[in-house]
Amino acid sequence: MTERSLVLIKPDGFARGLTGEVLARIERKGYRLAAVQILTPTREALAEHYAEHVGKPFYEPLVDFMSSGPVTAVVIEGERCIEGFRSLAGTTDPTKAAPGSIRGDFGRDWGKAVQENIVHGSDSPESAAREIAIWFPGLA
Ligand code: CMP
Repeated sequence: MTERSLVLIKPDGFARGLTGEVLARIERKGYRLAAVQILTPTREALAEHYAEHVGKPFYEPLVDFMSSGPVTAVVIEGERCIEGFRSLAGTTDPTKAAPGSIRGDFGRDWGKAVQENIVHGSDSPESAAREIAIWFPGLA
């Protein structure tokens, strides 16, 4: 079944000039780009996006990091693209992410309070619908 997923190229990925690389990997995998925008997220939008992490020790550093500069928000489309993009991204901890994945090839630990791991991808159809509504409220 065709799905949509919300992908974010986080401030570390944007600042390092990895936007084109990430978009190219998504396209080479065969997923379509349904919407793309560059913006610096507000703390309010991030509180919605990261609602499940409010109160965790890394929440404030996470919001500081994610609001520190531009991100590229992307809606991708394709069969099982939610699971597929998470596979392209690699595991959350960039030190452990497998080489060949985005995080495995470009990410590392920088000794900060938050894991700077280049990209975000929705983890379920429910999360994807919720997150797409936050980042692209006008998208049908
Ligand atoms: P993401 O999958 O976008 O959603 C939550 C983010 O919080 C995650 O990527 C990491 O950037 C960060 N994160 C998750 N777990 C930790 C952790 N244990 N310590 C620091 N940062 C974390």
